[in-house]
Amino acid sequence: MSAKWQVAVVVGSLRKGSYTRMIADEAIAVAPSTLAFTSVEIGNLPLYNQDLDDQKTPPAEWVMFRERVRSTDAVLFATPEYNRSMPGVLKNAIDVGSRPYGQSVWDKKPAAVISVSPGAIGGFGANHHLRQSLVFLNMPAMQAPEAYIGNAAKLLDSNGKLTSDTTRQFLRTIVESFASWIERNATSPAHT
Ligand SMILES: Cc1cc2nc3c(=O)[nH]c(=O)nc-3n(C[C@H](O)[C@H](O)[C@H](O)COP(=O)(O)O)c2cc1C
Repeated sequence: MSAKWQVAVVVGSLRKGSYTRMIADEAIAVAPSTLAFTSVEIGNLPLYNQDLDDQKTPPAEWVMFRERVRSTDAVLFATPEYNRSMPGVLKNAIDVGSRPYGQSVWDKKPAAVISVSPGAIGGFGANHHLRQSLVFLNMPAMQAPEAYIGNAAKLLDSNGKLTSDTTRQFLRTIVESFASWIERNATSPAHT
C-alpha cells in the first residue's frame, strides 16, 4: 500500500450550510490518493485562557484537539472571511493548538489555505490574516497557487455540490500542488 500523508482539515465556519465546508469537501473529493484527510472540529473548544493551561488538567476538548492535530502530517485550512479577517472561532483553535509555550501542535506542519466567500473578493483578507499567523507558527504555507474562492453561493447547488467544472479543476490543481508541497516540506514520517 502506498504511503499516505495524513492531512487535518480545519474549517473556520460552524454553520450547517457552510459554503466553506462544501468547498473543502469538494477539494477533498478531487485530491490525489496520497493524501488522507481527517476533519478536525473546532466548534467545541473553550475560549483560550492561559490560566487553564497553567492548572494540572486543561479542558478535555483542548487535549483531544491537540492530539488530533499532532497525529497528522499537514493541515488544510478552509476559512470564510469575517470583517476582512478570519472568524474568531478559527483564531481560537489556532491559539489553543499553539500552547502551552514550546508545545505547539502546528510547528513545522506544511499548510494550505483556501478562503471562501459569497462575495467577489474570495476572502482575501481572511486568507492573508491567517497566513500571518502561520508564519509565527512556523508552518510552511503553500504560496501558490493561491485559493480565493469568490461568488461561492453561485458555484454550489442545493446539495452543496459544485456546479462549475472550472472550479472543480481549480480545486484539483490546489490539492495536487498541496500534495507536492507536503512531499517537499513534511518533517513527520508518512503514515501508511
Ligand atoms: C460577522 C460576519 C462578518 C462577515 N464579514 C465578511 C467579510 O469581511 N467579507 C466577506 O466576503 N463576507 C463577510 N461575511 C459574509 C460571509 O462571507 C458569509 O456569511 C459566508 O456565508 C460565511 O461562510 P460560510 O458559508 O462558510 O459560513 C461576514 C459574515 C459574518 C457573519
